[in-house]
Amino acid sequence: MLTTLVSLVSLFLIPLRSYAAPSATSSAAPNPGATSTASLNSLAQSIGKAYFGSATDNPEFTDAAYLAILSDNAMFGQITPANAWKWDATEPEQGVFTFTQADQVAALAQGNGQLIRGHNCVWHQQLPTWVSSGNFTAAELTDIMTTHCTTILEHFKGDTCEWRLIAFDIVNEPFNDDGTFTSDVFFNTLGSSYIGTVLTAARAADPSTHLYINEFNLEFAGVKSTAMANLVSSLKSAGTPLDGIGFESHLIVGQVPTDFQQQLESFTALGVEVAVTELDIRMTLPVTDALLAQQQADYQSVVSACKAVSGCVGVTIWDYTDKFSWIPGAFAGQGAACPWDDNLVKKPAFDGIVAGLQS
Ligand code: G3I
Repeated sequence: MLTTLVSLVSLFLIPLRSYAAPSATSSAAPNPGATSTASLNSLAQSIGKAYFGSATDNPEFTDAAYLAILSDNAMFGQITPANAWKWDATEPEQGVFTFTQADQVAALAQGNGQLIRGHNCVWHQQLPTWVSSGNFTAAELTDIMTTHCTTILEHFKGDTCEWRLIAFDIVNEPFNDDGTFTSDVFFNTLGSSYIGTVLTAARAADPSTHLYINEFNLEFAGVKSTAMANLVSSLKSAGTPLDGIGFESHLIVGQVPTDFQQQLESFTALGVEVAVTELDIRMTLPVTDALLAQQQADYQSVVSACKAVSGCVGVTIWDYTDKFSWIPGAFAGQGAACPWDDNLVKKPAFDGIVAGLQS
């Protein structure tokens, strides 16, 4: 619906432009570049963070220039598989686990000396239809869910790998924006107890990785973040294993919530760590110098918020380049959300991140 709305607004605006709009994904033409030569992960670790990282996806590995930047562990000390570890990729048929794509990401991380954030075990999207339309009983679905997560975690756990699986998004996006639980096969069959069940199974499968619930729109106070805080409190009081809350942080230029840092702190006060897990800051195209400058300030705000909160362990951008960003495919007329443009040239946003880590 949001996409439709944006499309309608864009259609309305096009006749008002007196110049040719650049291509929908292009941000290269007006990019004045970045000035800093710093390396983000080195900088992040120098201020006590565990990593600065990026999401990545297997089809991108054939792009040598992309891979060279991604593989520089001074720049990116952590990677998140954007798709390869999800349910549809790893267990497309019941009991048939396929780790080919997933192992490629793990091998890349291992070769580069990078950490991995596992993503994800249980989510209402990218589920094979055998799960989402299986009409399972509660007992059957509990077994299916715990088998899936246990198998994934045991496959990748630190005991059997040289690289370190620092964290894992066990439950992804359990809430609607109004603070109610997402209506999916897990909630509809098991109620909210599926969350505790799968977290408990995950801890048993891999006692060392940090178990996360990952969510968007927690970056500002509201009913959704209150619902998540209540969930954290109730899981903690029940003794359920939970280590962290992921703040996805898919944000909009000029609209970074002013209470972002307080939100991070409000969760660390509940006894969990936090991480910025999927940061990108999109703009309505075309790219302008003013938008790039605002985006620089916005990246700085987010990163400095994490820097200021000792329980914020790291920042992951949802791929580092506009070339492979999910934004143009999801939000018509928007893009240029990443710190590198689609020619793999650093944007002013890169300087914003550096300033955020230094300030
Ligand atoms: O795998 C098929 C492939 O077989 C087919 O040829 C191709 C044709 O378009 O589609 C491929 O599937 C795509 C998949 O990515 C793998 O590339 C889907 O269409 C596409 O919708 C899917 O998008 C992913 C999206 O999650 C799905 O919701 C994005 O790459 C991924 O970045 C995005 O990541 C999510 C996080 O997991 C959770 N938080 C939000 C974030 C952004 O949506």
